[in-house]
Amino acid sequence: MYTDVEQISAVKEALHLSTAPSTVVCREDEQKRVFDFCKTCVEQEKAGSLYVCGCPGTGKSLSMEKVKQQLVDWAREAGFQPPDVLSVNCTSLTKTSEIFSKINGSNQQRKKANGSTSPLLHLQNLYSQQQPSSGSKMLLIIADELDYLITRDRAVLHDLFMLTALPFSRCILIGIANAIDLADRFLPRLQSLNCKPLVITFRAYSKDQILRILQERLMVLPCPVFDSQALELCARKVAAASGDMRKALCVCRSAIEILEAELREAPSNQNLSSVQDGLSAQKTSPACGLFTMQENVTVRIDHMAVALSKAYRSPIVDTIQSLPQHQQIILCSAVKFFRGGKKDATMGELNKSYMEICKSTIIPPVGTMEFSTMCRVLNDQGLLKLGQARDDRLRRVTLKVDEADITFALQGIRFFRNCLQ
Ligand SMILES: Nc1ncnc2c1ncn2[C@@H]1O[C@H](COP(=O)(O)OP(=O)(O)O)[C@@H](O)[C@H]1O
Ligand SMILES: [Mg+2]
Repeated sequence: MYTDVEQISAVKEALHLSTAPSTVVCREDEQKRVFDFCKTCVEQEKAGSLYVCGCPGTGKSLSMEKVKQQLVDWAREAGFQPPDVLSVNCTSLTKTSEIFSKINGSNQQRKKANGSTSPLLHLQNLYSQQQPSSGSKMLLIIADELDYLITRDRAVLHDLFMLTALPFSRCILIGIANAIDLADRFLPRLQSLNCKPLVITFRAYSKDQILRILQERLMVLPCPVFDSQALELCARKVAAASGDMRKALCVCRSAIEILEAELREAPSNQNLSSVQDGLSAQKTSPACGLFTMQENVTVRIDHMAVALSKAYRSPIVDTIQSLPQHQQIILCSAVKFFRGGKKDATMGELNKSYMEICKSTIIPPVGTMEFSTMCRVLNDQGLLKLGQARDDRLRRVTLKVDEADITFALQGIRFFRNCLQ
């Protein structure tokens, strides 16, 4: 029997940062450009350099891993000598110039640097002369987290890229950086040295892309575990904030943990009683039928909202969450009202929407006088904007905060879950 515990740990694994997804969607274009570049270098036995940049979590490292594999496979099939590959994460270097010793270390068949010359000098000499063994292999260098090299010593970065410009260089260099502006700071100099790398920028993921990637990663599971609304909310919020896929994955995992805690607390649930030692996900995929019995194992929008609010604490969200309940209901009614496509409402209309929510949730509404006072308080807090009118009921009301922030803030509160759907 496939239990909740197993199901949950399978989900967690699918969303884990270190789990390589079977397919990398939404980066086909970038990967193709990198691949084509490397392919040309191999075909023509020509050195070259590529500069890949983009904000954290935009799939750079993942994509380079894929391209690396693709390139080696292609070379084998096409009858070219596959290049040696050196992957370096620059943060792991004890000093920046160590990158040159690493490159030397990868040049296996060649004579090693003797004690008196520096690794850099050795490489410079090596690539400046015709090499005796004509068939020597190309070397694909993937230098990730390149930012690290510039903060300490910009010369290292220049020297590194310059290696590909030497007349007998055998290096295909791919430098990957998180800082977008790094290029502005060091490319001009390289250009003046006649060694301008091809630049490929990874743009932040959009909402639709994040959604697609999450769905793709969750496809390994036999059944949907996340409500589609929950995934949408996550994708929308993360895209608006940074487009960082890492963040999206972490939020989803956190949402699962919230659900897990909830199930553990529920006394009726026996499956989760062994949740502590249950991290032994079965790799077998039982029929979906087994899963439908576990209806409670669904990450809903409210779980996601809590996870998101943990990940992104914004002052506005905090403000909304600490308002008295009736003021929250007013904001909630404003959101509902404006969802119809209207841009503004009168206070009378807003009051009507407010009364409806109160009625549906069996909460006694406040009187119109108090309602007006509360709207004024919300106006003073900068959450609503009230227009002028002699009669309070005719005053225009507009929302001064993002509807998404309100939905986001209130969805975490059990009471509002149904109102906002
Ligand atoms: N297109 C994608 N498809 C599936 N997972 C992705 C995709 N892009 C990023 N990820 C996941 O997001 C996380 C961060 O991606 P990574 O490539 O390390 O970003 P970067 O190197 O740009 O900071 C990784 O866990 C990775 O598996
Ligand atoms: Mg990376």
